[in-house]
Amino acid sequence: MKIIITGAGGQLGRSLLRALASHETIALGHADLDVTSLGACIDAFEFHKPDAVIHCAAMTDTARCEKAPARAREVNGIGTEHVAQASARSGARLVAISTNEVFGGDQTTPYGEADRPHPLNVYAVSKLDGELLASARHPDTIIVRASWLYGDGYVNFNEKVLAAVAEGRPLSFVTDEIATPTSTDELATGIRDLLERDAAPGVYHLSNEGEASRYDWAREILRLAGRTDIAVAAVTSDELRANGYSGPVKPTYSALGNTRAAALGIKLRPWRDALAAYFAARVSA
Ligand SMILES: NC(=O)c1ccc[n+]([C@@H]2O[C@H](COP(=O)([O-])OP(=O)(O)OC[C@H]3O[C@@H](n4cnc5c(N)ncnc54)[C@H](OP(=O)(O)O)[C@@H]3O)[C@@H](O)[C@H]2O)c1
Repeated sequence: MKIIITGAGGQLGRSLLRALASHETIALGHADLDVTSLGACIDAFEFHKPDAVIHCAAMTDTARCEKAPARAREVNGIGTEHVAQASARSGARLVAISTNEVFGGDQTTPYGEADRPHPLNVYAVSKLDGELLASARHPDTIIVRASWLYGDGYVNFNEKVLAAVAEGRPLSFVTDEIATPTSTDELATGIRDLLERDAAPGVYHLSNEGEASRYDWAREILRLAGRTDIAVAAVTSDELRANGYSGPVKPTYSALGNTRAAALGIKLRPWRDALAAYFAARVSA
């Protein structure tokens, strides 16, 4: 297959380029294609004539989205609509990446693909807009909702925790924000498998298996890095806000149930195993 990747310079984009090595990939980073321009999307897709487009480009800084909601909608909502329009016009399947944050946190068991989204922050609203606009513009759209991504060579949560340790900063993480840390390398192979198995259009949840709070994730990072000597305070979101945190509201629970992909035989391994592999590769790098 000939596959265009938008946002190819980001952490998932880079993993996809590796996972799709047996296909012909066209990597379009932000400088190559700004998805806020419909004309640029149409020109690029007409030129390359891809079989599929994997749309990773997004404004992912949730705090920045909160401060610039119009820009968040322009990139994550309208930009995704543009990619869908251009994909439909050039006859390419579309895989648009979305997020666990479209859910409102009102459940205590994993959200299925058919569960009703209820976004709580600007980023999540803009991503849900993107999902709806893409599916309306292009019937052959696969929406892949992922959760808490970390990828190689990127300033992800794993690296932020270790940087805080290196700088001697005190660590405190919330126990009431629960989802699933997910390796971009493993997500990328799952997305490749969806395309290779010619998955039907619609919504697919794809994360590593299991669930964790931010606190659990941080503890596991320290264990794998051999730093169990470091203390981590467990706090609640309310306590964090009482101490001056003013970031976006997050769902208390947004783990994904990966039902539709599993029905196709596509299942990512438990999150602790994937995280261990990340740390093993990090040590040997
Ligand atoms: N990170 C997570 O925890 C997470 C969780 C669930 C779902 N997702 C979704 O997964 C996808 C990939 O995320 P990621 O973590 O790989 O994000 P990322 O590393 O931030 O990469 C996103 C890329 O999109 C580019 N971009 C931003 N605005 C653009 C525009 N107007 N036109 C074209 N490119 C633009 C960025 O370029 P610049 O750096 O130049 O802005 C960046 O290279 C996104 O759809 C995200 O919403 C992410």
